[in-house]
Amino acid sequence: MVKEYDFKNIVAPLLKWYRSNKRTLPWRITPTPYRVWVSEIMLQQTRVEAVKDYFIRFMDALPTVEALAGCEEEKLLKLWEGLGYYSRARNLQKAAKDILVRFDGKFPTTAKDLQTLAGIGEYTAGAICSIAYGQRVAAVDGNVLRVTARLSENPTVITDREYRKNLTERLTDAYPDVGGDCADFTQSLFELGALVCKPMNPDCGVCPLAKLCRARENGTQKLYPVLPEKREKRREDVYVFLIETDEGFCIRRREQGVLKGMNEFPTHIIQEGESAESVLNEWGMYAFTEIKRKNYRHIFTHIIWNITCVWIKTDAAPFDCYALDEIEEGISLPTAIKQCVDILT
Ligand code: ADE
Repeated sequence: MVKEYDFKNIVAPLLKWYRSNKRTLPWRITPTPYRVWVSEIMLQQTRVEAVKDYFIRFMDALPTVEALAGCEEEKLLKLWEGLGYYSRARNLQKAAKDILVRFDGKFPTTAKDLQTLAGIGEYTAGAICSIAYGQRVAAVDGNVLRVTARLSENPTVITDREYRKNLTERLTDAYPDVGGDCADFTQSLFELGALVCKPMNPDCGVCPLAKLCRARENGTQKLYPVLPEKREKRREDVYVFLIETDEGFCIRRREQGVLKGMNEFPTHIIQEGESAESVLNEWGMYAFTEIKRKNYRHIFTHIIWNITCVWIKTDAAPFDCYALDEIEEGISLPTAIKQCVDILT
């Protein structure tokens, strides 16, 4: 039986290292619950560098829960444009409205209450409670799973629910007692994972936990964490039509599938035997001139789109049309669709 790893031993050296090595990040300045919440949601599935500017812009535009709750959907999606996973933005607003109604405008202060809000699970609740409130609650994300799996050489697949639950409990038990230390301990684990205990090439030479790391001792860093088998992504061939009329370019809402509810240039998943012309005919368009085509790929979490962008001009189209600068300023488009605009230059 392998001896269970005691996470208490890592707290002191990790805190010491964090305090002289931490990055200055916008959400670390005045870590209010609101700011921590928004940053943690943005940081899910998105890199720190990419999030920085979005976070600053978002806080300038919507500095409070009230402002977020009252924001027009289109403005909110525009602030999120390019970050992807747009349901995150919708959930943020849903939760903000809920805080006003159900919690009387007071930001919930317990992990249990926080988890009743849209888009907040155990991880985000843990991050808010420890970073903003200094509570002894762990927040286990990908970085933390990697760091801890290597420290303890844990052979369990990291997606295993029981494993995560157990790890969260054991880490929580190891949390320091003082509020400020709790906030820093959570962030020190993120920071070590991002700067030192990296996925491909861990920098064990500068790691403050090297002496406490079983993987480092046995040279098995590359074997941990144990990841689940990758699922093959489904491939779809897609037309994105840039339909230009005298009023501008056609935009509509996606009604189903990936990116449901988002704006798009009219898009169509190609079935066998379909051509651009047959699709446009199907939409009631017969008189048009094709100007140019461009092919590109967009990779979603579970799907790969092979996109053929087709730019056409026509006198009349069965969609609303907008001038290009109007689209640029006021209409949010997901990256997979927006890339099509390059064809115009
Ligand atoms: N990744 C997830 N949360 C983070 C945070 N608060 N700081 C840096 N990286 C993170």
